[in-house]
Amino acid sequence: MTNLAVIGTQWGDEGKGKIVDLLTEKASVVVRFQGGNNAGHTLVVDGQTYALHLVPSGILHPDKTAVIASGVVVDPQVLLEEMAKLRARGVFISPKNLKISEKAHIILPYHKALDQARESIAAQGDHRIGTTGRGIGPAYEDKASRLGLRMGDLLNLKLFRQRLERVLVEKNCLLVGLYRSSSFSIDSLMELVENWANQFKAFIVDTFQIINQAAKEGRNILFEGAQGVQLDIDHGTYPFVTSSNPTAGGVSVGSGLCPKLLDSVLGLVKAYTSRVGEGPFPTEIKGTAGDRLRKNGNEYGTTTGRPRRCGWLDAVLVKNSVELCGIDRLAITKLDVLRGLPEIKIATHYMLNKEKIDYVPASLASLSQAEPIYETFPGFDQDITKASKVGDLPDPVRRYLDRLSELVGVPAGVISVGPDRHQTIMLHDFFPSSV
Ligand code: IMP
Repeated sequence: MTNLAVIGTQWGDEGKGKIVDLLTEKASVVVRFQGGNNAGHTLVVDGQTYALHLVPSGILHPDKTAVIASGVVVDPQVLLEEMAKLRARGVFISPKNLKISEKAHIILPYHKALDQARESIAAQGDHRIGTTGRGIGPAYEDKASRLGLRMGDLLNLKLFRQRLERVLVEKNCLLVGLYRSSSFSIDSLMELVENWANQFKAFIVDTFQIINQAAKEGRNILFEGAQGVQLDIDHGTYPFVTSSNPTAGGVSVGSGLCPKLLDSVLGLVKAYTSRVGEGPFPTEIKGTAGDRLRKNGNEYGTTTGRPRRCGWLDAVLVKNSVELCGIDRLAITKLDVLRGLPEIKIATHYMLNKEKIDYVPASLASLSQAEPIYETFPGFDQDITKASKVGDLPDPVRRYLDRLSELVGVPAGVISVGPDRHQTIMLHDFFPSSV
């Protein structure tokens, strides 16, 4: 048995969907533990592309249990749409294989309205975070201020209505008074809520019991991180972060799994870096090389379609994530995207105030001033998408990978050389027992 977490080490979009899907084959339970439908995991299975936002990637295997745990914020409307789309493509979804935590907080329409209103006001003063506009931050705010409504509340609509009535006073006041936006009526919201209650009541359970029981039985559990460590609300580039904890610590907080039981942490590293939204990005490449990475890597948001900012691989940042999460193997993704570039670079250190440093400065002002120091590798023109072992990779690529491992102190466990499942070099057995 193994309890394995898959964590993004950068600013999200490291290609977690494909790796999680591959690992799911030997897992028995797959758990989303944080974030919401700000995430977008693209999977290519048998030539078919699936874009998942809330449903754990394990859903594509009918014999697995997919869990949306308590740390996730759920937009039930989005979840219904996602389930309908998947079912239309023949994916089996029932209360048997999808479990939703009664403690997971609900994203209500006013959360989205507040997120978008706040961002549009902030844009006028150039203070945007660049959120996905999905209501993630406002939903987590309500959770922290104890104003949230949870999936379990859908099981008692009378109480739901009473609580919603109270909450709505404050939300409408903000929306109308401060943001000059429209208010929400209790009746129209309750109409939505009643439908959600009908559709989801069979799926809502105490997911901690499921996870805990699976752990006790020694079954393989896969924890599917969304976003990346550098977007963590506590340890990321605050305030340009999301509102949850995509770090390995978030596994425990968001699922209830006792921290001592997490056996292994796989850190996803894209062979270059991307970032959506605002915030410091020391290795960002502006101009044609950046445009080329964006185009070759199809770096446009799965959730919002926004073009991603692109740049060189930043080993300082990845090392920080390795240390924060106890990552013991790396999965390097999208290596094939580097093909055709005249040269490839890795940032090994930063220069800050004339000092060479090998850590991520905590202050945003300092990180914004940090100048990356690069090591440069020759480019490669060969098609690497058919490589099935490390020896098939061109010499500069192998040197690039070795250097990354050396800089961050962790070996590679998976190398992804193309979008499809079989375009993967597996160097480690993450679930040695197949329970
Ligand atoms: P929010 O999570 O929608 O509040 O957005 C906060 C920040 O996190 C913004 O910079 C978003 O672009 C970023 N973000 C949220 N989810 C993802 C993701 O799945 N991939 C990459 N960036 C994300």
